[in-house]
Amino acid sequence: MTKNFKRTTVTSALPYANGPVHIGHLAGVYIPADIYVRYLRLKGEDVLFVGGSDEHGVPITIKARNEGITPQDVVNRYHTMIKKSFEEFGISFDIYSRTSSETHKKTASDFFKTLYDKKEFIEQTSEQYYDEEAKQFLADRYIIGTCPHCGNERAYGDQCEACGTSLSPLDLINPKSTISGSTPVLKETKHWYLPLDKHENWLRKWILEDHKEWKPNVYGQCKSWLDMGLQPRAVTRDLDWGVPVPVEGAEGKVLYVWFDAPIGYISNTIELLPDSWEKWWKDPETRLLHFIGKDNIVFHCIVFPAMLKAEGSFILPDNVPANEFLNLEGDKISTSRNWAVWLHEYLVDFPEKQDILRYVLTANAPETKDNDFTWKDFQARNNNELVAIFGNFVNRALVLTHKYFDGKVPARGEMTDYEKEIVSQISNSKFQIQNLLDNFRFRDAQKEAMNLARIGNKYLADTEPWKLAKNDMARVATIMNISLQITANLSIAFEPFLPFSSARLREMLHLPAFNWADLGSIQFLPEGHRLGEAKLLFEKIEDEAIEAQVLKLQKTKEENAVTSVTSVTPVKENIAFDDFTKLDIRVGTVLDCQKVPKADKLLQFKIDDGLGGRTIVSGIAQYYAPEDLIGKQVCFIANLAPRKLKGIDSEGMILSAEDADGKLVVISPSGTVKPGSEVG
Ligand code: 2FM
Ligand code: ZN
Repeated sequence: MTKNFKRTTVTSALPYANGPVHIGHLAGVYIPADIYVRYLRLKGEDVLFVGGSDEHGVPITIKARNEGITPQDVVNRYHTMIKKSFEEFGISFDIYSRTSSETHKKTASDFFKTLYDKKEFIEQTSEQYYDEEAKQFLADRYIIGTCPHCGNERAYGDQCEACGTSLSPLDLINPKSTISGSTPVLKETKHWYLPLDKHENWLRKWILEDHKEWKPNVYGQCKSWLDMGLQPRAVTRDLDWGVPVPVEGAEGKVLYVWFDAPIGYISNTIELLPDSWEKWWKDPETRLLHFIGKDNIVFHCIVFPAMLKAEGSFILPDNVPANEFLNLEGDKISTSRNWAVWLHEYLVDFPEKQDILRYVLTANAPETKDNDFTWKDFQARNNNELVAIFGNFVNRALVLTHKYFDGKVPARGEMTDYEKEIVSQISNSKFQIQNLLDNFRFRDAQKEAMNLARIGNKYLADTEPWKLAKNDMARVATIMNISLQITANLSIAFEPFLPFSSARLREMLHLPAFNWADLGSIQFLPEGHRLGEAKLLFEKIEDEAIEAQVLKLQKTKEENAVTSVTSVTPVKENIAFDDFTKLDIRVGTVLDCQKVPKADKLLQFKIDDGLGGRTIVSGIAQYYAPEDLIGKQVCFIANLAPRKLKGIDSEGMILSAEDADGKLVVISPSGTVKPGSEVG
C-alpha cells in the first residue's frame, strides 16, 4: 500500500443472476479478488470482501418472458446457484447478497433521492419507442430491426451483433417490438440523467494524474473515455423490473441497472454490518478496491465514482484492477452458445478438485490480455506442476520423515552453504510473492510460490537423503528438517491460491495457527513436532478425463452448428434482375489492415480497388488478425453509400459468410484476379 490505510473494502462485480457462473467469471474477477483478500487476511489486515448477485436489468426480464415465469423466479434460481458455486470454489466473501433485497431497494432508492434533492441530475424528455399493444415503453433489447450498416435484419435496438456497431433504436430500419411483434410508435418520456460532463474535470485529474499506477488496460480505457468527452447518462428506465424511481412523476420507471448495481456493494455491507458499515465506505482511511472484468471499467472508474462524489460523503476507489477476458479452446466464452465450462458441471466431473481449476485459471489469468483455457493445458499443469512438483515434494518430505524419524520433526544440525543459500531463497521468495500480490500480479505470484516447491524438489533430488540413511542419520535429520520447513512455507504461500490443498497440507503437518509473517522462516516446525498422516495432495488426471471434456465441447459445437443450420434465415423475397445489377461487387487486394481503436470488432482496410484505392471498415476483427489479411484478395460492394464508422469514412462493404459457429469468413476469389474486377 502506498498510503497508510487502516482497512480495505474489496468488492467484486455482482454477476447478473440470469445464468450460472463459468470459468471466465472465476478467472477474471472472483479468483483474483479472493487471492487478494486471503492474502490481506493472512497479513492480519482489516478487510471486508463484498459480493452479491445483480438481479435487475432487461436480460432478466427477457429470460422470464421467454420461460413464462417472473423475473423474481429467474433471479431466485440463479442467485442460489451462483452463491453455491462461489462457496464451493472457496471464494471467501464476507457477504454474498442480492440486489432484489429490501435493504438494497431502500439503499439505492435513498441514494437516488439524495442526488435528486441535491439537484445532481438533469431531467430530459425524449421520444422513445412504445408498444401500443403491450402498453409499455420498449427497452433497446426489446426492439429488433434492420441494421443500417450491414443489413442484418435481426439487429437489436442497442447493437447489431453481426457487424458490432452500437446502435440507438432510432437507427433501426423497420423496427418491431419483440413483445407483441407490432411496429412501435415514438412517444415522449421523461428521464433523469447524471451529467457526467460536469464531472469530467475532476475525473480527468483524479484518474489521469493521481492514479497513473492503475493497470495500463484500465488507465488506457479511462483515458479514451475522457478524451472522447463525457456525456450525460440516463439513470432511469421505463421498465417494470428494478428499484422504483422514488420521485413524483416517475411512476412506471425504475433505476437503470447500472445505477443500482454498484450501490449493491454498499447495501450488502449495510446488510452485514448495519451499525458499522459507514467506516467501510466513508472513512478516508479505508482503501476501496473494485475487482471487475474489462467490460465494467467505465462504470467503476467513471460513472460510479461520479455518483459517489455527487452524493458527497463516500470515498472513491483507490484502485480498479480489471482483467481482460478468458476464451475457451480458442473461442469466446458464450452463455447463449453454451460455450463455457460451468462451475457446477466442473464439480460433477472433477469432484473436490476446485484447487486445480483455481491453479490453472490463475496460471492463465487474463491479466494483461485475453487468454485461452484449454483442457490439454489444464491436464498438463495439474500433472506436471501440481502433482510432479508440489505434490511430489510434499509427499517425499512427509513419507521420508515417517520412515526415518517416526513422523517427528528431526533436529537440524549445521547447514551446508547450499542449504544456507536455500534458506535465503525462501525468505527472498516471500518478498517477491508479496510484491507481486501488492501489485495485483497474481499469475506471477503463484509462479513464485511454485518455485518454492521447485526449490524443495531439487533439494531432495540433490541431497538424496535415502542414500545417506545407511551411514549419516544426522545429515538426513537436517535435510528432512529443512524439507519440512519448506512444506510448512508452502502451506502458507499457497493459502491465497489453493486454500483447500493448503488446509489439507496443514492438517498433514499438524500446523494449527499460521500467518503471513511465518512465511520465509525455517523455524516454525519445532524439533519433535509430530506430523499427521502423509496423503497425496494432488492426483494425476488421465487422458480419458480430458478427452471426455473435449468431446463434450465438440458436441456443443455440433449442436450449435445444427441449430444455426436449422435457424438459417429464410430466403428473401425475389428481386428483379435489374435490382441485382444495381449492386457493384468487385475484387480488391488488401494493402493494409488495422484494428480500429476502441472498437473490439472493427478492422480498417486500405483496399487496392483498381481505381486509386479506398478505405473500408468491417466488423470482422474477432475472426482475423489484421496482418493475416494483408495481401489477400476480397470481394466488396463498391457502390454502397459511404458511411462513418467510429469516425472513419467507410467506402463500401467487404463481403463475408457466416459459418455454422457464427464465425465470419471473408469471401475471396479462388484465383488471383486484377484489382477492380467486377463480380457478377
Ligand atoms: O457485467 C456484469 O455482469 C454486471 N452485472 C456487473 C455489475 S458490477 C456492479 F456494479 F455491481
Ligand atoms: Zn450491422
